[in-house]
Amino acid sequence: MAKAKVAVLISGRGSNMAALLYAAKAADCPYEIVLVAANDPDAAGLTLAAAEGIPTFAHSHKGLKRAEFDQIIDAQLRRAGAHFVALAGYMRLLSPEFVAGWDNRMLNIHPSLLPLYKGLDTHQRAIDAGDSHAGCSVHVVTAELDDGPVLAQTPVAILPGDTPDSLAARILIAEHQLYSRTLAEFVGRERHPDWLLNQVREAALALPQADEIVSHGMPCFGIVKGKKFAYFTRNHHGDGITALLVKATAPDEQAMLIESDAERYYRPAYFGDEWVGIRLDLGDTDWDHIAGRLRASWLQVAPKKLLGLMDIADQF
Ligand code: GAR
Repeated sequence: MAKAKVAVLISGRGSNMAALLYAAKAADCPYEIVLVAANDPDAAGLTLAAAEGIPTFAHSHKGLKRAEFDQIIDAQLRRAGAHFVALAGYMRLLSPEFVAGWDNRMLNIHPSLLPLYKGLDTHQRAIDAGDSHAGCSVHVVTAELDDGPVLAQTPVAILPGDTPDSLAARILIAEHQLYSRTLAEFVGRERHPDWLLNQVREAALALPQADEIVSHGMPCFGIVKGKKFAYFTRNHHGDGITALLVKATAPDEQAMLIESDAERYYRPAYFGDEWVGIRLDLGDTDWDHIAGRLRASWLQVAPKKLLGLMDIADQF
């Protein structure tokens, strides 16, 4: 199975980036690093990444507006084909536009047990507070600084006589282990059938009058007391595939889609030409596209009365 493509953003030393990079060398690691980018051309981590054969990009943020700079970085991430972004000591506040573009696809590592000690000087603050433990957290990046859902944490005991530096050095060991493990789990969940079904379910049941039943052993979405507009198939007849089946919107659409991307689209057995299979287990599913396909499929089968309601809703 193809590995998930991850870009790493750094500002300096890049030891967390190195930990991610070396973990990615294991054959069974579900991600690969496709780019290491920095907002400081002198960031030491760039040299290491380049020596390991990873493409690098550097651009100073100096003199640029935040959103302008973020656009430059965003363009590089997309050019590299990144599907996820890992912030690793990237000491920049991010523009809301940049964060929105990587919604639920960008992780950060922070040297504290969040929600404690967001921002800077985390080690000093934990020592000053007399905490028994400091630690590190990996979280999903949202618009608020160090605020997104925490995915995993490692507590690290504070020793008598610890200075911010001695504590930071021990936490860094924990960071290096926590980040690669958490990133691997995070990118892996997108191939897990339960997670994929939840994504489909959320989008399908958001459509007017939609309900879910089981049909031919598959979760199936239809209009209440009406026709079906989507099926979720998971290893059906042992085919090993997790996919969504939706109605085609034109007679030749199935063939066109298969021709455009034969890995992703297929003709579902027993469903004829009216339905299209869309693989969800390739690791790079565009969920906006899936929501659009579900809506288009719903529109194919919705009774006129409901379509009228949709037209009205669309005007707002
Ligand atoms: C790490 O300790 C990381 O947790 C921290 O900067 C250090 C970067 O080291 N990040 C933050 O404080 C983000 N708010 P590295 O460049 O060697 O990975």
